[in-house]
Amino acid sequence: MRGLPKNPMASPAPDTDPLLDWHDGQPVSRLFGDVYFSRDSGLDEARHVFLGGNDLRRRWTALPRRGQFVIGETGFGTGLNFACAWQLWEEVAPPEARLSYLSIERFPLQAADVGRTLALWPELARYCSALLAEWGDLAPGWHRLSFGGGRVMLTLVVGDVRDALPRVDAAVDAWFLDGFAPARNPEMWQPDVLAEAARLSRSGATCATYTVAGEVRRGLEGAGFAVDKAAGFGRKREMLRGELVGPRATQWRAPWFARPLVPAADRRAVVVGAGLAGTATAASLAARGWAVELVDRHATIAAEASGNPQGVLYARLSPRATVLSELVGSGLQYTCRSLPALALEPGSDFAECGVLQLAYDDDEARRHAQLATLGWPDTLLSPLDRAEASARAGIDVPVGGLLFSRAGWVHPPAICRALAKHTAIRLVLGREAVRLRRAADGWVVSDGIGDIAAAPIVVIAGAGASAAFGETSHLPLRLIRGQLSFVPATPASRTLRTVLCGEGYVAPARKGQHSLGATHRFRDTSTALTAAEHRENLDKLARLAPALYAAVDGEHLDPARIGGRAALRCSAPDYLPIIGPVVDAAAFATAYGPLARDATLELEAASPWLDGLYVNTAHGSRGLVTAPLSGEMLAAYLEGEPAPLPRAVMEAAHPSRFLLRSLIRRRSATSR
Ligand SMILES: Cc1cc2nc3c(=O)[nH]c(=O)nc-3n(C[C@H](O)[C@H](O)[C@H](O)COP(=O)(O)OP(=O)(O)OC[C@H]3O[C@@H](n4cnc5c(N)ncnc54)[C@H](O)[C@@H]3O)c2cc1C
Ligand SMILES: C[S@@+](CC[C@H](N)C(=O)[O-])C[C@H]1O[C@@H](n2cnc3c(N)ncnc32)[C@H](O)[C@@H]1O
Repeated sequence: MRGLPKNPMASPAPDTDPLLDWHDGQPVSRLFGDVYFSRDSGLDEARHVFLGGNDLRRRWTALPRRGQFVIGETGFGTGLNFACAWQLWEEVAPPEARLSYLSIERFPLQAADVGRTLALWPELARYCSALLAEWGDLAPGWHRLSFGGGRVMLTLVVGDVRDALPRVDAAVDAWFLDGFAPARNPEMWQPDVLAEAARLSRSGATCATYTVAGEVRRGLEGAGFAVDKAAGFGRKREMLRGELVGPRATQWRAPWFARPLVPAADRRAVVVGAGLAGTATAASLAARGWAVELVDRHATIAAEASGNPQGVLYARLSPRATVLSELVGSGLQYTCRSLPALALEPGSDFAECGVLQLAYDDDEARRHAQLATLGWPDTLLSPLDRAEASARAGIDVPVGGLLFSRAGWVHPPAICRALAKHTAIRLVLGREAVRLRRAADGWVVSDGIGDIAAAPIVVIAGAGASAAFGETSHLPLRLIRGQLSFVPATPASRTLRTVLCGEGYVAPARKGQHSLGATHRFRDTSTALTAAEHRENLDKLARLAPALYAAVDGEHLDPARIGGRAALRCSAPDYLPIIGPVVDAAAFATAYGPLARDATLELEAASPWLDGLYVNTAHGSRGLVTAPLSGEMLAAYLEGEPAPLPRAVMEAAHPSRFLLRSLIRRRSATSR
């Protein structure tokens, strides 16, 4: 332990969090019976042990103009180390360099406790308020928070370090090993944890910790770090710091999912498609100093699937830990967290009105009951019985359900416009990309008439048209037609205060009308409105919320006369999006052909990437939830940053998965 509380009985303010006691104004963990930082001075300790122990002032001063640096931390705690690192980064790193901070925390503190702790150091006030503005309650899983216009990025994994570290996809430059004292918090210091830290390290990475416990030193040495003792902070005579020198335990990693080399310094990209996927990609790249040409065949952005007047921030979580559930859980929180920065107009562009998923049948009720035990804070996700649900919705609903209180509806074109509004993004509208051509320094995109744009990197975000290029024709994309119905609001229906979801959905009125949605048609690519699909949407509303159906006089609405909008969703056969680098399909089949005989082979051949070509598509029915985060996923590939999601999720969304599956399926077919 770094120092027992001087006066364990002192508790100057009421507790805000069951995880903490406050002793002499400093937080002490109830679970671990230990302090979060030295009682002598947490700030000076953080600077001495973690910043000094990793030699960060010198290393950051020497970074190139657009350099980047990755910190890995075990135990985010109060965010003190993060705030100190950010402060030093601002002081010494080049203005265009970027810091990625990846931290794992099993027991995230409440915002009030983070605020109360960091208030101990007024010089950190700016960092503290920025952190708190993004914090909120955190569900288990992966969170991406961005600060200073993207100059500092926090990937915060809420989970156990032993589960989380093996799932991280990152190359770390410096580690802050900051669990509680090893005797009280042994899981944080196990040899497998330290070996994972080594696995995730760039060569020459360093680590630092306040403890000199023998098992920690031995664990670090066993993992490949050369470790020495340095003068400790305050009452602690010594601390440890290490540098990765030795061979690490290497595991075979599927080369088809390895990352392509990070492209050279020329940060220019063409993004084809200006819907949610394309604008999110452009925004994530622009925030990292890229110059982006955003091409669309229409005269305005968001003219196809992303052009609906209202879309719902709806995540259908699974009680089991599936990659889809992880993706939509993180994506939903990322989208919700991103909205304030987009300067949208409340009521016309979005409403954080809550989304109520109604338990419309027994299976759904069972799923809700299981989800309520997933560990999401009830400020984010809460089960409501019928009376509570009706009170929250402002209209009588037939059953209870689950309320996602931070979610709501948005006007997708407003999000697309806000994402595309950046001085580094140039819109190239009214031009249809029909061909890609390799050039000496990248790709040239042309339409039938001439060249439209050129750059070392091209990202195809053209929804269902993404497979129209020779290079991407192997992507198995499906189109699913969907129709929304617009129903005029009435005084009685205007009482609706949340989005209601079940087999369909209905949103509170925007500009005098409710959007009801949505139909699914698999073999129909027309975008003409049909009365039959309006009838279907109205029937779904009648089952979902009979009182609302009556309030809009659904019985007498003529499906042949009401308004609506039809568009085409784009999905992959596994209903996961397709995000990442593109390969030469024929060369892939040759390189990994042996998998057709034996799918367990640990082949080494490098994947035949089409250098600089990426895709971002197949967001299906949930682009509002998955597309904003997809920009960060692509940026992680293009900048060599920590992935914002577990490796398994990145791989599940990888464009090469279909080629791989068809090779392996060939094996199953021949072995039958
Ligand atoms: C009826 C309906 C209701 C929906 N409701 C919801 C909802 O409530 N919540 C939710 O999260 N999601 C919802 N969705 C899904 C969501 O709208 C999509 O997932 C999302 O819009 C997909 O974004 P995108 O950028 O991939 O595709 P799009 O918005 O279709 O954008 C693709 C763009 O690429 C352009 N393009 C294509 N090829 C080329 C080319 N060769 N050259 C130039 N430009 C090109 C197109 O013009 C288009 O602008 C709904 C979809 C529909 C149809
Ligand atoms: C000493 S505190 C970290 C202090 C922090 N770095 C700061 O700047 O305030 C240790 C942290 O490790 C977290 N922790 C303990 N066991 C963990 C585990 N198994 N997995 C992940 N985090 C854990 C605790 O909840 C606590 O927040």
